[in-house]
Amino acid sequence: MNDLFFTDIHNHILFSIDDGARDLENSLQMVEQAVECNIRQILATPHITDPMDEFIMDRIKENFNQLKNETNKRNMAVDLFLAAEVIYCDRIDSWLEKSWITLNSNKSYFLFELPLFDLPNGVSDFIFRKKLKGLTPILAHPERYLYLHKNLDELIQWHNQGCLMQMNAGSLIGQFGNEVMIMTKKLLRSNFYSFAASDAHDTESRNFKVLPKAYEIALDLADQETTKNMFILNPDKALKGEPISQTFMNEGIIQKNWLDKLINSIKKV
Ligand SMILES: [Fe+2]
Repeated sequence: MNDLFFTDIHNHILFSIDDGARDLENSLQMVEQAVECNIRQILATPHITDPMDEFIMDRIKENFNQLKNETNKRNMAVDLFLAAEVIYCDRIDSWLEKSWITLNSNKSYFLFELPLFDLPNGVSDFIFRKKLKGLTPILAHPERYLYLHKNLDELIQWHNQGCLMQMNAGSLIGQFGNEVMIMTKKLLRSNFYSFAASDAHDTESRNFKVLPKAYEIALDLADQETTKNMFILNPDKALKGEPISQTFMNEGIIQKNWLDKLINSIKKV
């Protein structure tokens, strides 16, 4: 474990922007904790939500530079990069015109989230349009949207269209309740995820420690190669804008019950 270094592509380490770090000092405490957890590359992904004013976007860049300078000054053993977690809404296309919103400005990958309570329309069409433009969407924590538990066909369709999936490490250890944890395990065993990330907000209840903890649990549920890809190799590739091969999914495991299996087998005839 000590020779494994993580790259975290989803967290709220950037101060005074969203519900993540409170101030610069708090961001630096989070960096310290990340280093203790063997995280050596951190992609800061503040929420971009609607409404979001331009001045907040400017503040994101200013605060990021300030944090990066401070970590360099203190010789902290970590590399910081900037992106965002953009909410799926009417304005998402215009936000994605800004290259800094893609992972490390690479214009290859971006991280997006859905509204927490209602399944929005048009996600499939959105994924199709972005893929046509050469941009690969990464959906943050699909297991956390309870409405998707009842619409797995839709989620599988997005996956098959080339949308990559990011598991929250906390979901696997029960941070978001039993229902979410059960779905996370099912999706993990189905080879559904390309990434694991911390989604850390602080050093307390939603911290970086979930990442190494979830790594150990994932090793028991998925094979070693899948786990290493999710936690170590793919996050690094995404940061560099390198291609990531789509996971092979075993749909059988995530079918909810025998009726689903029956319906699916009929569809295939
Ligand atoms: Fe997040």
